[in-house]
Parts: sequence; C-alpha cells; structure tokens
Amino acid sequence: MLQTFSMMLVKLGGSVITDKMAYRTLRDEVLRRLAEEISSSGERVIVVHGAGSFGHVMAAQHRLQNGFRDNAQLLGAAQVMEDVRALNLAVITALRKAGVPSVSLPPSAVARLSEGELSMLDLSVFRRYVDLGIVPVTFGDVALDDRRGFGICSGDQLMESLAKEFSPRRIIFCTDVDGVFDSDPNIESGAIMLQNVDRGTLDRLPRTQRCADVTGSIFAKLETMLRMTSFGGEAVVINGLKPGRLAAALKGEEVVGTKVTGA
Ligand code: IPE
Repeated sequence: MLQTFSMMLVKLGGSVITDKMAYRTLRDEVLRRLAEEISSSGERVIVVHGAGSFGHVMAAQHRLQNGFRDNAQLLGAAQVMEDVRALNLAVITALRKAGVPSVSLPPSAVARLSEGELSMLDLSVFRRYVDLGIVPVTFGDVALDDRRGFGICSGDQLMESLAKEFSPRRIIFCTDVDGVFDSDPNIESGAIMLQNVDRGTLDRLPRTQRCADVTGSIFAKLETMLRMTSFGGEAVVINGLKPGRLAAALKGEEVVGTKVTGA
C-alpha cells in the first residue's frame, strides 16, 4: 500500500511557531493558521516542527548538544523533552482542530543518534500512519546517542531522513523570513533575497549568526536542503508568518520564497 507519490514534507520552523527569543512562548495564532492552511490544501503531508524557544534556550544552558557529561544535565535533558512535548501537543491539537488527524512520533522514542548524526529512525511507523491517513508529526528533540549517551536531534535531520524515505514532491521549510537572504534581513536593511540557491550561491554567502541555536545556522540548514533535493523533489524556503504562503506552496503554486535546487 505505497502512497508516497503525492507526499509533501513540511517543516514548521521553531522561529515561526514560537518566539525564539522568549523561553516557552508559543505563537498560537500563527500555529492555528498554518494548521488550517495544511488542512485546506487537502495534500498528504508529514509534518516536522522545530523546537524554537521550547528547546534551544534550555538545551544550550545545559550543553546538551555535546552529549552526556555529568548527572547535573539529566534534569535539563528531561526539561527539554518535557518542553518540546508541550509544543508538540500544541501542534497536534491545532492540526486536529483544523480537521487533520495526526500522531506524535517523538525522536526520543523512534530515533537514535551516533555522535550527533541521525543513525536510526523507525520509518516503518511513519509509513504505517501515512498509509492509514494519519499525519505523522515529529520534532526537534533530545534523543539517545549510541556514543554520547544523548544528543539533540534537529528537525532538519529528521527532514532529511524522511525525504530519503518518502521522495516528497515538494519539501517546504516555513521560516520567519521571506526566503534565504545574502545577509540577515533582521539586521541588514539592504539584504537581498535569493530566488534560487544551489551549491555555488551557498558557498558565496557571508557567514553570520544571530541567536543561540544549538543545531547550527542557516548554512547548516541549507547544506541539508541541498542534499535533500537529491532525493527527487524541490525544496522551498517560505515565510510561514505570511498568511497563504504555506497553502500556496502546498498547492504547487508560485510563491514568494527561495527554491533550493541540487547542483
Ligand atoms: C532543535 O530542533 C531541537 C532542540 C533544541 C531540542 P530544530 O533545530 O529543528 O529547531 P528550530 O527550528 O531551529 O527551532
């Protein structure tokens, strides 16, 4: 019962559904609207969401990204897992209220890392829910690491593994800016948005970083996206804060954003 031909893979970035600068702050109105845009598209999707301020603040404070060092980190790890679950509950609730049946698949239970790399994701569980017509929702989380005890599993690592398995028609990243810029648009007023990013454009971008982010900057994310395009579909980066853009991207319409294409 393979139904992967029309799959769309959507990441709701942590900077879209949360206020990334303020610990545990949900943007519930944005989340409600995005859930409705997913619902009204009628598309078959898998949803991945970031952790935003439900994950990064505490994960950095307890230095979780480098793995287990001492017992003092354990309450921090538990706190992050608790916080990202609270966010995830808000996401699956918003989807259900919008009429989309979904199920939570936490990486702490279905994924394994090895030295920070995603080494196992129980994709059969994702596939079974997809076949049933229930949308799998996974997210940036703390996960077991075979070498380091635990680590941080990012939404982008999950996106890559899911893209490889499901060959989605389109891979959509919802961020808090219109697309990928040649410099940070929240700092530089003259930042220019790139219509297309490929290997060459990525190598020429200046490197800056704005806020605490334990899973890497936009460059790491772009590297991941470039690899993902090799699995078939195109990747687009759009602004999830602008009403209608996710709906348009899901319908395959031309939308303001950046297309990431392979070399
Ligand atoms: C981060 O996940 C996970 C934790 C910090 C626990 P992501 O890297 O996918 O989150 P965002 O989208 O950047 O917020």
